[in-house]
Amino acid sequence: MHHKNALVEVDGQSVELKVRAGSVGPNVVDIGSIYRQTKMFTYDPGFTSTASCESKITFIDGDEGVLLHRGYPIEQLAEHGDFLEVCYLLLYGELPTAAQKKDFDYRVTHHTMVHEQMSRFFTGFRRDAHPMAVMCGCVGALSAFYHDSTDITDPHQRIVASLRMIAKMPTLAAMAYKYHIGQPFVYPKNDLDYASNFLRMCFAVPCEEYVVNPVLSRAMDRIFILHADHEQNASTSTVRLAGSSGANPFACIAAGIACLWGPAHGGANEAALNMLQEIGSADRIPEYIARAKDKNDPFRLMGFGHRVYKNYDPRAKIMQKTTHEVLGELGHKDDPLLQVAMELERIALTDEYFIEKKLYPNIDFYSGITLKAMGFPTTMFTVLFALARTVGWIAQWNEMIEDPEQRIGRPRQLYIGEPHRDCVRMTER
Ligand code: SDX
Repeated sequence: MHHKNALVEVDGQSVELKVRAGSVGPNVVDIGSIYRQTKMFTYDPGFTSTASCESKITFIDGDEGVLLHRGYPIEQLAEHGDFLEVCYLLLYGELPTAAQKKDFDYRVTHHTMVHEQMSRFFTGFRRDAHPMAVMCGCVGALSAFYHDSTDITDPHQRIVASLRMIAKMPTLAAMAYKYHIGQPFVYPKNDLDYASNFLRMCFAVPCEEYVVNPVLSRAMDRIFILHADHEQNASTSTVRLAGSSGANPFACIAAGIACLWGPAHGGANEAALNMLQEIGSADRIPEYIARAKDKNDPFRLMGFGHRVYKNYDPRAKIMQKTTHEVLGELGHKDDPLLQVAMELERIALTDEYFIEKKLYPNIDFYSGITLKAMGFPTTMFTVLFALARTVGWIAQWNEMIEDPEQRIGRPRQLYIGEPHRDCVRMTER
């Protein structure tokens, strides 16, 4: 369907710009020629109004609270599928048949071990190093081991690198956790499903058999699904930008991990739990709500608000349900943190400030409580987010490499510094 061009008047000059439509969601004004035509740049720090690419992977309608992966609603994927099925969907674009799923599970399962030399990287870190620091280092180091899957121009090598990343992130994440707590590494077991394998690598000890709780492995698998991909968020955009220079996939994923670590992004689940612990009891909530509204106070309610969702984050609703299931199973349904979280949510959703600014709980608001109940320390929360988001990063990275329109990302700037001036000798300053 043809759309009328956009007309931009600049310094008395009319510039026509193409309008392009997607399959659903907002159209875009193609500004690629605007500098050539006007010698002016567009300006959009934070990219609040900027589409960086075409994509077929994930669609979000922030006003309606809709999240689709290759067209399928997150609610249905989380309810009926498993994480590796969602991985297949994100990578290949279609839900797998039973045979395709069986083959995909087999291939991922048989890439879960890491090179034995990798364990020596861990011993270089202090035991109290933040596990995200360890993950940044170790995932980037994978490119030192897998020279047979770093040629990004070879589709076969790209898919091998993709499977390796999906398969090895749980192993590396569990190793980061075990190293952090001073326990021996646990090798993956091929007769366990993805989430069960991860829980066992985290919580098994050599002294006794570890039996996976099916309620917890189902919850873990669902938490992975909810975090799998989310359009062009900050860490995905980081992976795409790193990949646009031709960097190898392991280095690009390491860049994504670094970006996700920030408390405004993936670090929010750790920050949200720390905030709930600081609040401590429901009677202190009004004090924190007041601080969140105070322009002079940098405090924000962690786990609330979102750049895109101006409605309830659909993942948060599923996360809340999973939280109740896990706490119920573990006998923590009266967990004081959950009580504080539920009361904070109730108050915030009725408060004029939050309603006017459309600040709703996001996925990070409930994930921390669930992960803590499952036995993970807060420092591991963002590692689990990175583990799950790896498939989204790698799917978006593949799409970027295959996109004929993509070239190295190189934004410009609005320069507000000193115009030309000549150096003055030190003796004359
Ligand atoms: C994730 O992009 C993604 O998709 C990310 C993610 C994914 O899956 O990849 O969904 C994962 O990162 C979720 C978000 C987790 N972050 C947090 O929970 C941290 C707390 N939230 C805020 O830092 C904030 O809401 C952001 C960073 C999430 C969004 O920031 P924006 O879009 O830049 O919004 P903003 O900072 O401009 O806020 C708009 C207004 C501001 O007030 P005004 O300047 O207009 O007066 O709302 C206020 C803000 O002060 N505001 C908050 C608030 N979030 C925004 N006030 C109090 N508490 C908050 N949490």
